Amino acid sequence: STVPVIAVDGPAGVGKGMVTRWLVQRTGFHRLDSGALYRILALAAVAAGVDLDAHAAVAALAPGLQISFTGSSEDDEAILVGGQDWTRELRAETTGALASRIAVSPEVREALLQRQRDFRLAPGLIADGRDMGTVVFPDARLKLFLDASPEERATRRQRQLSKAGIAANFATLCEEIRARDARDRGRAVAPLKPASDAHLIDTTGLSPEAVLARVEALSVAAG
Ligand code: C5P
Repeated sequence: STVPVIAVDGPAGVGKGMVTRWLVQRTGFHRLDSGALYRILALAAVAAGVDLDAHAAVAALAPGLQISFTGSSEDDEAILVGGQDWTRELRAETTGALASRIAVSPEVREALLQRQRDFRLAPGLIADGRDMGTVVFPDARLKLFLDASPEERATRRQRQLSKAGIAANFATLCEEIRARDARDRGRAVAPLKPASDAHLIDTTGLSPEAVLARVEALSVAAG
């Protein structure tokens, strides 16, 4: 495809959503929140009474999911599954943990691969996740890999959740983020790691503005 892609990868709570929304505003490109697809599939499996470790059965649910993303800012974004609003449940850290459990499966990843590529529509796509630059869109025009310490990410996650009206304990969040990192980095298939041609941005101690200034410089350089 000649449709340009910007890949934004990194661990949980690192600010991929913030960077992605900013890039969408700036470019007018479409957005793929790939993590949401893993989250939706995990919740759909739970709802259907399918064991999350029965990977083939989980993967088999993927083609039938009717998903629509609406809104464009953090405040009016909603994710509908089969016409129902799943936004709130999808955001919960417990859902992230369920998603990372099914994400270790090659069958599940394969079932979601084409669905992700289908988002690549003119004029372009900003895609965020774990393997956008390595597996799903290896030919992306620009690849960003964001990182930050687990403590910093837990702090940001807590703030983000509290804005959404969800209370979360800091120590618990830290522990959940570490566990999710270990699973995402350690899995055999599509582990979380920067593509060889990705630009690394360590956001520890950086304000959102400073991160975006860095992203802007890189995107201007990439044309
Ligand atoms: O990004 P988000 O926190 O929504 O992702 C939830 C989980 O889905 C991740 O922890 C990861 O296990 C999985 N995921 C993935 N590949 C992606 C996006 C998400 O494995 N591209």
